[in-house]
Amino acid sequence: MAQSNSLKACVPAYLKEAQLIKQGAEARVYRATFLGRPVVIKERFTKLYRHPEVDEKLTRRRTTQEVRSILRCRRAGINAPVVYFVDYTTHCIFLEDIVHSVSVRDHIASAQTPQHLQALVEKIGEVLAQMHDEDVIHGDLTTSNMLLVPGAEHQHIHLVLIDFGLSYISALPEDKGVDLYVLEKAFLSTHPKTETLFERLLKSYSASSKKSSAVIKKLDEVRLRGRKRSMVG
Ligand SMILES: Nc1ncnc2c1ncn2[C@@H]1O[C@H](COP(=O)(O)OP(=O)(O)OP(=O)(O)O)[C@@H](O)[C@H]1O
Ligand SMILES: [Mg+2]
Repeated sequence: MAQSNSLKACVPAYLKEAQLIKQGAEARVYRATFLGRPVVIKERFTKLYRHPEVDEKLTRRRTTQEVRSILRCRRAGINAPVVYFVDYTTHCIFLEDIVHSVSVRDHIASAQTPQHLQALVEKIGEVLAQMHDEDVIHGDLTTSNMLLVPGAEHQHIHLVLIDFGLSYISALPEDKGVDLYVLEKAFLSTHPKTETLFERLLKSYSASSKKSSAVIKKLDEVRLRGRKRSMVG
């Protein structure tokens, strides 16, 4: 009881004013204003079923990883939200709100024909190759974790990567291959009959990175392992 009271007292004042936009299993995402700017606040909350010390460590690690990978991407010119402020006592990250954006997931779902999407998947392949060249492994690549800013100039696609809570730094082709495998699974199950489109994404990835052949080789291995596992049952 004493613990839940003290937890309630910890709700930061800025969250009381914020508007909840997503309640996830690990985090709550809010919209608010910070220093006059529109922000998204991502709050990782305490899991009461976990040991408090373990929980604190895990939550802190996710927060740190998210911030570190965003900064690493931005330094390399890869679009990810600006990090305005991090509160390590309440595990809140204040991010630039990518206003008027739509998720790649919703964009693909509403596209008339796959032809409309070719330039987009080529852009995704290019950006992911850049990210992997910086040794950032995203850890949760899905089309929901990519935002599109509409209204960009013709030919120019403004793609922003988000949700780096499971990311880490690694130069291993295997880790990059698994990252692509996670995306492939998510992509093909979210967007049926897009095999050709996804192949195009991988082609663009390959053309954009000198290190891609080892990664694609690993991707093939991981796919094979997945298939063998499903045959065993
Ligand atoms: N910087 C941002 N600008 C605009 N919208 C955002 C931003 N960050 C997150 N969102 C919106 O909030 C949703 C949830 O954010 P995010 O994917 O980071 O959290 P999550 O999936 O709950 O996280 P986790 O997987 O770490 O539990 C996104 O799908 C997107 O719609
Ligand atoms: Mg997400």
